[in-house]
Amino acid sequence: MPKIDEWDERREARMSDSATAMRRLVGYARPHLREFLVVVALVLVYIVTQVMQPWLVKIVIDQDLIVRHPHFRAVLTIGLLYLGITIIGLFANFTQNRKLQWMGQRIVRDIRNDLFTHIESLSMRFFDTHETGRLITNVSSDTNQVSQFFTSFLLSLIQDGASVLFVMGAMLLLDWRIALVSFVVIPVIVLISALFRKKLRDNYRYTRTRYSRLIGYTAENLGGMRITQIFHQHDKQMRQHTALNQRYTAGNINEYRWSVLFNRTFSALGNLSVALMMWVGGEAVLHRTIQVGVLYAFISYIQQFFNPINSLTQNWNTLQTSMISAERIGGVLLTEPEVVDPSDPVEIVPADARDPWGVKGEVRFDHVSFGYGPDQEVLHDISFSVPPQAFVGFVGETGAGKSTLMGLLTRFYDIQAGSITIDGIDVRDFRQADLHRLMAIVQQEVNLFSGTVADNIRLFRPDISDAVVREAAQTAGADAFIRALPGGYDAPIRAKGANLSLGQRQLLAFARALALNPKVLILDEATASLDSATEMILQEGLTRIAAGRTTLVIAHRLSTIREADVIYVMDHGRIIERGNHVELMAKGGYYARLVRQSAPTERLHQQA
Ligand SMILES: Nc1ncnc2c1ncn2[C@@H]1O[C@H](COP(=O)(O)OP(=O)(O)O)[C@@H](O)[C@H]1O
Ligand SMILES: [Mg+2]
Repeated sequence: MPKIDEWDERREARMSDSATAMRRLVGYARPHLREFLVVVALVLVYIVTQVMQPWLVKIVIDQDLIVRHPHFRAVLTIGLLYLGITIIGLFANFTQNRKLQWMGQRIVRDIRNDLFTHIESLSMRFFDTHETGRLITNVSSDTNQVSQFFTSFLLSLIQDGASVLFVMGAMLLLDWRIALVSFVVIPVIVLISALFRKKLRDNYRYTRTRYSRLIGYTAENLGGMRITQIFHQHDKQMRQHTALNQRYTAGNINEYRWSVLFNRTFSALGNLSVALMMWVGGEAVLHRTIQVGVLYAFISYIQQFFNPINSLTQNWNTLQTSMISAERIGGVLLTEPEVVDPSDPVEIVPADARDPWGVKGEVRFDHVSFGYGPDQEVLHDISFSVPPQAFVGFVGETGAGKSTLMGLLTRFYDIQAGSITIDGIDVRDFRQADLHRLMAIVQQEVNLFSGTVADNIRLFRPDISDAVVREAAQTAGADAFIRALPGGYDAPIRAKGANLSLGQRQLLAFARALALNPKVLILDEATASLDSATEMILQEGLTRIAAGRTTLVIAHRLSTIREADVIYVMDHGRIIERGNHVELMAKGGYYARLVRQSAPTERLHQQA
């Protein structure tokens, strides 16, 4: 069998240990304890009916009720009894199965809900390091695997465990000597399953990792379909997909090979035991130490005995697979969000209805340093202060740290040194929900959700009225194109906004930000996808958009921030120049050079 990558091993090791994971999952079953007890009772009823059947036949045979001492009424009574217990058994089995499925489905629903909610609560760094595809596997198939623990494994443990005990009891009652001889097979069964168990589990683990890689790859690819097509990456992507698919297939085939081998070995063992019983029991019948009916019952029992043991070991594998899934889910559930709410958050007191926050919107960075990883600092000793309702610009080359700066203000990450305050209050002292309610951000990349245009502007918040939505769209300059859509504000957004142009999506994002009436508005290269004409419209609207709030603009085109109160010039994680356009031009430094370099294109834009 191919070895699991070292990387995966380490990954598994980092995850919570099985015991904690399992304890957590069993917690999900606790509310269903009463139903579970009913299930156990039904299982016991079913098993008793199963064990009684061979016994009834044995009575008929050993009393020789048909040939030597024909006794019609007795046979009829036993026959009816047999029928009766069969019906009871069926009923018990059916009800128990239905109840168990019902429980299992509810448990898995709860786990899936919690998992989703928890993932949503996690901090940005988690999403930096976890692929979406793998998370999708966690939420979809891992939760299903875990539900198997409740529906298959627990059921098997009770049903098969009790079956084995009852059958053993019945055998001992019938004839303890022959019973003891047949119990000899038990250690053999246990030994063989133990040998197979590790192999099956390793195989399973291997296949699972291959599977989530395949899914991850597929998800990533579907997300980047445009790129794939534009850059003619089909062949390369196909090759990679084929390789991943091949490894998954090989893993699967290997898994099935071992499990078939295991099953066949097991059933051969079962047949051997029946033969052994025929031999030992047959001898006993010949020597008249037992009756034929007893032998019949023994042979039935030994078969009844093998099925549950087989099922138990198979379900032992289910347990293993559920455990692996449980560990993976547990790993996610036990991941604490890195950015946490303070234990004693500041309360923001609403001033009035239109300005519900009583926050002025003064933003201050004080000696802030930050790195995404432990040993690579991205921002170095950043200090600046923006008065309430000011309009400030940030410029700098790609990778200078502009977006990072905004991510810190919104507290997507926590800083390593210094402080970031709003109205003098550290962002870490706000509830994240409050902090985010204070701010809105418009980025170059716009995420739209399934729903209508209006839903996407109000982001499904019922407290934002249609009038506010419309007003926001008007201010953003989105109203005209929205009304031209079939359905207008109620037009459905298809597949992440595929029915809208990039520019239209960006205007929607502007409207969305405005509908929230934020105190601090962040525009991160927000006009990059707009054509010059639209940008110009927005540019004129920018004063309206910025009115009454602090506006931080990362400029895509320098002309956007020409009127800014202050412009901060960033380079390699530092602010290297600051001042308004006139001052910076007069200084003749980095900014002046940037403006000169971009001048020809800017002029082109103005002409367009
Ligand atoms: N999520 C992230 N994880 C690790 N490094 C990042 C992440 N985001 C950005 N960086 C790094 O931080 C630096 C600054 O990036 P960014 O703030 O996006 O620059 P800008 O917005 O000015 O183009 C870059 O070197 C980039 O590689
Ligand atoms: Mg950026």
